[in-house]
Amino acid sequence: MRRLDVGPGARLVVATHNPGKLVEIGALLKPFGMDAVSAGELDIPEPEETGSTFVENAVIKALASAVASGLPALADDSGLAVEALGGDPGIYSARWAGPDKDFDMAMETVNRLLGDNPDRRAAFVCALAVAWPDGHVETFEGTVDGTVCWPPRGGNGFGYDPFFVPEGFDETFGEMEPARKHEMSHRARAFALFVEACLKGA
Ligand code: IMP
Repeated sequence: MRRLDVGPGARLVVATHNPGKLVEIGALLKPFGMDAVSAGELDIPEPEETGSTFVENAVIKALASAVASGLPALADDSGLAVEALGGDPGIYSARWAGPDKDFDMAMETVNRLLGDNPDRRAAFVCALAVAWPDGHVETFEGTVDGTVCWPPRGGNGFGYDPFFVPEGFDETFGEMEPARKHEMSHRARAFALFVEACLKGA
């Protein structure tokens, strides 16, 4: 497992054009004295996500930014995988909401495809990839198992949150206190693995 250089002056490119993600990841890196800079700020174009898994897409994004910037780069890819739909919408979770990012429609589509199938199992998945300019890559994956419910419940969070009840809870992610979701989310789990492997003790 390769570690990242940390401390004053250390920089990590976050392979995203989403300012929200940069803020979230920047806060995580700060205690290690690292600065997060986004691919957007460096004018690095977003590569086409041609992978067939979350990990493959995260690797494509991290490598594109690392090679273009000459700095290590971190990328994530995430989504909702529904068991009875063979893992759909999966890597296409954002696309199922269409150009208007209509997640009510995306949840309705998933529910319609499930029909009266009693198997409502689903998982949120987050893959993280760290790539170095020499092409070395490390990957991490965090998941939260649960079920999808109908109708969706709760106004917190984003995307498919109101549709997903994590295992061991009665509330959906959309009903849950945001802090509680963030503690146990697929993203938190993937980040914890990344921090442990690449940053801690460095
Ligand atoms: P990404 O930004 O390309 O990884 O897209 C991830 C998509 O998956 C988002 O647009 C959401 O639709 C969905 N997604 C990922 N994580 C979550 C979550 O924590 N809650 C709800 N939806 C999520």
